[in-house]
Amino acid sequence: MADTTIAPLLQVERVADLRDQVRRWRAAGERIACVPTMGNLHAGHLSLVRAGRARADRVVTSIFVNPLQFAANEDLDAYPRTLDADCAQLAATGCDLLFTPTVDTLYPHGQDGHTRVEVPGLSDWLCGASRPGHFVGVATVVCKLLNLIQPDVALFGEKDFQQLLVIRRLVEDLALPVEIIGVPTTREADGLAMSSRNGYLTPAERALAPALYRVLNQTAEALRAGEVLAQAEHAGRNALAAAGLRPDYLSVRRAEDLAPAGAADRALVILAAAYLGRARLIDNLRVNLD
Ligand code: PAF
Repeated sequence: MADTTIAPLLQVERVADLRDQVRRWRAAGERIACVPTMGNLHAGHLSLVRAGRARADRVVTSIFVNPLQFAANEDLDAYPRTLDADCAQLAATGCDLLFTPTVDTLYPHGQDGHTRVEVPGLSDWLCGASRPGHFVGVATVVCKLLNLIQPDVALFGEKDFQQLLVIRRLVEDLALPVEIIGVPTTREADGLAMSSRNGYLTPAERALAPALYRVLNQTAEALRAGEVLAQAEHAGRNALAAAGLRPDYLSVRRAEDLAPAGAADRALVILAAAYLGRARLIDNLRVNLD
């Protein structure tokens, strides 16, 4: 008979309990992977857990809706919190430990009094320009989570490509002893990148949302056909608007560091953000012109 046992999932809120458990695994010579999340887990998050399992003996997932990365006018209060369903999915996917710290645990001196981690330059463009302070909040909490969990490897989705590069840079600059792995974006059948914020879409908006990925692909085709970068960007933004989305940006950048791409650059990434109803959707597509 097939084994349908669901592995027990340990859940801890306290740092001391997290560290005790991690210490026991380390003493047994086990490798540890970590998957930081804000919960409301979907198949994209679970692919990070699986990628962690493939690289380590133990997977620690954190769920923390980090107030430091939300501006006052953003969706911190509305952000979906679905802990019971998240626990069931994590247990079924083979996560070993779920860390669910409180805001006071992570920010004992309050959010304003907490030391901050800032990755200059990279944090200021694209999503950073539209969401001032966002990447300082992300870098600060990720740095803290990595220090608390001390994993060998940490996994992040490539959907948040700018976030992934910010994290890679902070790990390099602060010499944190962890390997950062980017995991390919998980998509719905119609191409829409999975995101907790897709839940904000009405059925009519949900029908329009795949246009974001479609336009990224059209822009990639234009670049491969030799279109000038600025024209491809302009056409992409127009196509988003024509599809009923309100473009925030659509930009072709160097994949390596997100610097504005020039005609000689071959390894590119097209990044876009667009508003649709209550949701702000982001997505990206790598293009290699060689
Ligand atoms: O991508 C996310 O869910 C968050 O930005 C992260 C990395 C968990 C930090 O809060």
